[in-house]
Amino acid sequence: MNMHKYEKVWLLFGTGTLLIFLIIVGISAFYMGNQPPSCAVTLNPDKVDETEPFNEPGLKQIGDDEYQLTIVASAFNYDVGSDDKVIEIPKGATVHFNVTTKDVIHGFELAGTNVNMMLEPGYISTYTNTFKNAGTYTLLCNEYCGAGHHLMAATIEVVES
Ligand code: CUA
Repeated sequence: MNMHKYEKVWLLFGTGTLLIFLIIVGISAFYMGNQPPSCAVTLNPDKVDETEPFNEPGLKQIGDDEYQLTIVASAFNYDVGSDDKVIEIPKGATVHFNVTTKDVIHGFELAGTNVNMMLEPGYISTYTNTFKNAGTYTLLCNEYCGAGHHLMAATIEVVES
């Protein structure tokens, strides 16, 4: 088979870019710890308030420098267990996020971190993050959920311990 030089170049270019793409996706998935939202754990979305641990949202210490943070999202609010919607976490702490929604799909993005999940009714979304830097992090909804979408926010303060 006789192939034109440009055709060979184009084939190599196509295969090469595909390989580069797959390598970048592979590295970002394994090295940076990207993972799909957890869909393995389900609950009855009509009974969120009666289901543990969502009946008591908030921060709970479960070990040395280890916490479980339970949050219930609903239109248009994040119930983080406190009225001022501020959660204080000591610097260096590992936090296991445990989040669900009572009504529609909401987003769960902690700006400036890798915490970025979709919340679906009936499912529990989980993620573990270690807060290495002190600072103020804004939790916001990044899935359009209705007229009050822009009001959905809370704050995580990572403080020097
Ligand atoms: Cu909740 Cu947008």
